[in-house]
Amino acid sequence: MLGDAKPGHLPNDRLGEQPGLVGDHGARHDTRMPEVSRQTGQANGVAAFRKQFPIFEQKVYLSSCSQGALSTPVEASLQEFIESWHTHGNPWETWVRRMEELRAEFAALINASADEVAVTFSVSTALNSLASALDYRERSGVVTSDFDFPTVGHVWLAQQRRGARVSFAKADGNRLPLNSFEEIVDQQTALVSTTHVCYKNGFKNNVSALAELAHERGAYLLIDAYQSMGTQPMDVKALDLDFLVTGALKYLLGSPGVAFMYVRRELIERLEPADSGWFGQENVFAYDVHHLRYAAQARRFETGSPPVPNVYAALAALRLIAGVGLATIEEHVRELMSRFIAGARQRGLHLITPEEPADRGPLAMVKSADAPKLVAVLAKDGILCSTRDGALRVSLHYYNTAEDVDAVLAGLDRHPELLVTTAD
Ligand SMILES: Cc1ncc(COP(=O)(O)O)c(C=O)c1O
Repeated sequence: MLGDAKPGHLPNDRLGEQPGLVGDHGARHDTRMPEVSRQTGQANGVAAFRKQFPIFEQKVYLSSCSQGALSTPVEASLQEFIESWHTHGNPWETWVRRMEELRAEFAALINASADEVAVTFSVSTALNSLASALDYRERSGVVTSDFDFPTVGHVWLAQQRRGARVSFAKADGNRLPLNSFEEIVDQQTALVSTTHVCYKNGFKNNVSALAELAHERGAYLLIDAYQSMGTQPMDVKALDLDFLVTGALKYLLGSPGVAFMYVRRELIERLEPADSGWFGQENVFAYDVHHLRYAAQARRFETGSPPVPNVYAALAALRLIAGVGLATIEEHVRELMSRFIAGARQRGLHLITPEEPADRGPLAMVKSADAPKLVAVLAKDGILCSTRDGALRVSLHYYNTAEDVDAVLAGLDRHPELLVTTAD
């Protein structure tokens, strides 16, 4: 059993920046291993970046909104984890250090400090941990929206038994107008918890306007950036966010099993999660069953042993993203998206994604007469897309090219019977 292991003997400075991460899960070894690779994508631009994703040798991959494609650096990092396990048996000092490297890498990506980042297993576990720390006696309201991913609704609805009062900002067609929030955020609202980009139509919320509204009414703002993070700059300080959640597996190009939660520094020590565990303690390896001492950092929202293989994957993936830079990725994705939207418009297709660049992210959707069939026939042609709510989802990343966009448009041309046009 992991938790039965002896306390560690290593000095603190071997285990990353975060206090409390002293010791290990088991016996110690000298585990000096090569650094998880830092690849850069920018040097030779898109072509060099794309080369690192073998799937493009066979497929047109347009489904990063479901899962980012696997790159050779991520594969090598997973292999490095396996080697470390083979060679050292249980090198938990190294594995915990990798976790701290990942925390720092994510923090840098969003302009936060590592202290303000919790590394969790999923967005759902991050939200549940936060939810368990909220006290609904003073302010009971939680506002989310029709456009949020279902798990967000589920987490907050489950808080009703603890006194939360949940309301949903209403969509108007393919938009979530600011006044839908204005109507329901009030002096009783503790938290506005909503999405950045909507998973089922690609609409992008105006985060600055939401922050202003929430704060003006004394509420906190949490943004779920799962459908945008990795494709545009994200500065939590400039946006004045209180919380941000996202996961590694989509546009951050990692594997399932790792997610992140940013918590504004001033809020961390005011929040004591009822959902806790040893990795959320001040000293993880104190092995003190009798006392609960939360870490002073956002990692107080963590619980059990970290998902180490996924941490290795995410670390290489985030370094890949950082090597290109989010602003460069945003520009590329915006150009490709405009190309797709122009092509769809030219064909008279029924787009359900707003057309203005400010209102959309890396995901565009067109209505289909039979979306699962359309996804299947495109897949037969080697074009991988996805579907939600009766529409085709096409998502774009830095590894995609104008040829990919043209390929999916040509694929749509071959199946007019499965499309819905604006004339229908
Ligand atoms: C916007 C958004 N939030 C949350 C999730 C799910 O989060 P998790 O499975 O990490 O709890 C998804 C998954 O598709 C998503 O698109």
